[in-house]
Amino acid sequence: MIIKNKMSSYPPILSVLLVQLVVYTVHTALLPQLEPHLGYSVPLFWQMLSQGIAAAAISYAFRFSYWWVLIQLTAPPLLVLGLALNLPLWGFPTILLILLLVFWNVAVNRIPLYLTNRKTSEKLVSLLPKKDGITVADLGSGFAGTLREMAAQKPDQNFVGFETAPIPFVVSWVLTKLGPSKNVNIRFKSFWSVDLGEFDVLYCFLSPVPMAQIYQKASQEMKPGGMFISNSFKVPDHRADCVVTVKDGRKTKLLIWKI
Ligand SMILES: C[S@@+](CC[C@H](N)C(=O)[O-])C[C@H]1O[C@@H](n2cnc3c(N)ncnc32)[C@H](O)[C@@H]1O
Repeated sequence: MIIKNKMSSYPPILSVLLVQLVVYTVHTALLPQLEPHLGYSVPLFWQMLSQGIAAAAISYAFRFSYWWVLIQLTAPPLLVLGLALNLPLWGFPTILLILLLVFWNVAVNRIPLYLTNRKTSEKLVSLLPKKDGITVADLGSGFAGTLREMAAQKPDQNFVGFETAPIPFVVSWVLTKLGPSKNVNIRFKSFWSVDLGEFDVLYCFLSPVPMAQIYQKASQEMKPGGMFISNSFKVPDHRADCVVTVKDGRKTKLLIWKI
């Protein structure tokens, strides 16, 4: 139990690498003992498959999210496959780096990148206060599609996105600059370091992990009457004032609190 808590307090990418390292060390120690009994030397691909299965099993036991378990399972055999196909060695770190720059916040604080769909963005527009001049923030704005949709529909309101994953930030910044709406502003800044008091509406689509903390921050900093909207994720011990179900494929729930 103590081990489990310690594991979950590390950034996931470090825990993932640690699991692979431990499994690799155990494999390397066991293999010379095992091979004389088997009567043949185990091919590298089977070694890496076994490495992937063991790493995935440990990750599953430590309750890593499913897609980390999948990565643990597939990365070692794919590495060998890549080598067998003579892919250039620099290809692996390059792919890893690109994935890291896109999914930065999964690697460091367990907040993945997935995007609000069009129907949910449209529903959000209809939920915004009918008042000019207000400022709406998307905490973790991804590629900022939601913000651009809202900004286009509400030209007299202001929209701000905060994003710290490098590639989503750059892409969203460029798309926003090229787009027609001048009332959107994307900032390369963690929402934890922002005073949320300047916003009338906060929207977030994050993960269960930060919800208690971000709600507490919002209720301490926002002005009375502010609106806090969470796509899908509840705040522990704080029932939403209103829940709106979107008519999309996954029946998205927008949970709304009045501050
Ligand atoms: C699930 S995505 C949602 C993207 C976008 N809001 C949408 O609904 O389409 C969550 C985003 O939050 C970003 N994020 C996570 N922690 C952050 C932080 N502390 N500051 C800024 N962005 C963060 C992630 O990089 C990711 O792009």
